[in-house]
Amino acid sequence: MNVYRCIICGDSFIGSVRPSNCPFCGAHEQYMVKIEKWQDLNEGLELTDVTRTNVEKALEIELSNAAFYESAAEKVAIEGEDEARSIFRALFKVESEHASVFKKFLKNAVPEVDIKEVAFDNIKDNFKESLRREEIATKFYQAAHDQATETRAKQVFKALVEVESDHIALDKEHLGIEENQPVS
Ligand SMILES: [Fe+2]
Ligand SMILES: [Fe+2]
Repeated sequence: MNVYRCIICGDSFIGSVRPSNCPFCGAHEQYMVKIEKWQDLNEGLELTDVTRTNVEKALEIELSNAAFYESAAEKVAIEGEDEARSIFRALFKVESEHASVFKKFLKNAVPEVDIKEVAFDNIKDNFKESLRREEIATKFYQAAHDQATETRAKQVFKALVEVESDHIALDKEHLGIEENQPVS
């Protein structure tokens, strides 16, 4: 049995093979390293003002998206839709993990934010809203990546562009939208 630890979120996975994605934050498999190779890449990290501002904004995005998915899971459960509930619940967990990643960046200077969101009553509207949110997140992380000068910040923003892009693909599958087809 092996233990793989994620260099993006820091959580560990026990299993016989390396997972294709971190089960916690969704980072792609190249970020899952054998535990003995793992290093805390946040150690000694000093953020530039530009990155700090972007990380604070990123934290807000993640908390808002986590709150939206939590509400979506509750709403669709009322409809008796267990599959959709389970997907939104999984997305809630991933986005909550992303919020933790950014909180670790901000160390002792995490702003107090309490974000509440109310999702739609039906599954399709929630997938559409998910797609809208994931597209905003992806664009923002790409811009934050491009603006960052710190290697670690660039690495994390890039990893999250990949994860949120996976969520976009998932949403499109559920909405029956072909890849690269514009959303009406
Ligand atoms: Fe992770
Ligand atoms: Fe996220």
